[in-house]
Amino acid sequence: MLTSIRTEGEKIEIVNQLLLPHTTEYLEINTIEEAHEAIKSMKIRGAPAIASLAALTFAASLSKALASLDRPSFLSSPEALEKHVTSILDYLYTARPTAVNLGAATRRISRTLQSSKDAGKDAVTIARDLVAVARLVSDEDYARNKKMSENGSLWLSAFHNLQAGEHLNVLTVCNTGSLATSGYGTALGVITYLHETQRLGRAYFTQTAPYHQGSRLTALELQTLQIPSTMICDTMVGSLFQHRTIHAVAVGADRIAQNGDTANKIGTYNTAVLAARHNIPFIVVAPISTVDLDIKDGSQIPIEHRPSTEACVVRGALYPPRFDSDGRRELAQVMFTPPGLDSDEENVYNPSFDVTPAELITAIVTEKGVAVRREGENVFDLCGVV
Ligand code: MRU
Repeated sequence: MLTSIRTEGEKIEIVNQLLLPHTTEYLEINTIEEAHEAIKSMKIRGAPAIASLAALTFAASLSKALASLDRPSFLSSPEALEKHVTSILDYLYTARPTAVNLGAATRRISRTLQSSKDAGKDAVTIARDLVAVARLVSDEDYARNKKMSENGSLWLSAFHNLQAGEHLNVLTVCNTGSLATSGYGTALGVITYLHETQRLGRAYFTQTAPYHQGSRLTALELQTLQIPSTMICDTMVGSLFQHRTIHAVAVGADRIAQNGDTANKIGTYNTAVLAARHNIPFIVVAPISTVDLDIKDGSQIPIEHRPSTEACVVRGALYPPRFDSDGRRELAQVMFTPPGLDSDEENVYNPSFDVTPAELITAIVTEKGVAVRREGENVFDLCGVV
């Protein structure tokens, strides 16, 4: 299985996703600043994975402070610890604005800080509590992904009244597999689960321009897992629905509002509109921590805009292949727009996410269960589900 993060004691390494699928390079993350930079520059991406990296790096920095002979002054009192922790969490939270998991992780750590402080614990004991809860953010991810994947797979099979020997073809967008999480994946987890239980016909995935999480990462994961799959360009979704039998669209989420409106990778909304036109069920698969009950609807979700250059440049390996002296494929970045187009942010519209209105979503799948939008209703009632 491909993993986005690997740990050994306090050592944290991430696979540099900017170099995949041609080069697998692990980068050591030693400081909060390095974690922030890795998330911002998309060396690691995917809502649950960035929350895990932030939490693990925070845990490691605190753990190192606890172990040091010369204990830093922020461990001298609960108030000093709170000041220190709050500034780190606030800083990590600014790395990427749309994925709520990062905020959910930092809020969870803040809540633990508050309750340990209210319980009258000393700074060192509070710091130990914080290390434990931060590690949980990452540790819990795999099991819940497996659970939501099972939930989604069973729900889709029941939706289609799938009989023994029958199979489902599922389209997905972006990358929501083990590289975007701490393992197994969310929407790609559903596809994997269907495959493992002999219920998948074929997975389809969009290239997901402009960052190509589909063609670079999902393609690699599906290949590694030996799941039958077909890539399409983002512009081909309508044609796919017209010419092939697609039983479902399954996507991940970066933030789900109280009414079910869902922010996910750019292009998700287009796919949802086309799925509705073709009566294809459209499901969102995400952990409960992706639901933001503080936000009433999608209009309040902050949408990250990426630098214009990212929409003007493709990254990949030279073709025909050329190899360096270590036998690795040589990588390149190629600009495919006229020179200067990227020099002004006004010239290029490059939102990283879009919002799919709840009325286009058939079901929201979490580790706890499946929330189905009721016939004739345009919103979900997620308050009772999370
Ligand atoms: O910009 P990215 O690559 O971080 O965007 C990722 C997505 O939109 C995913 O679909 C989403 O985070 C869910 S990951 C399980």
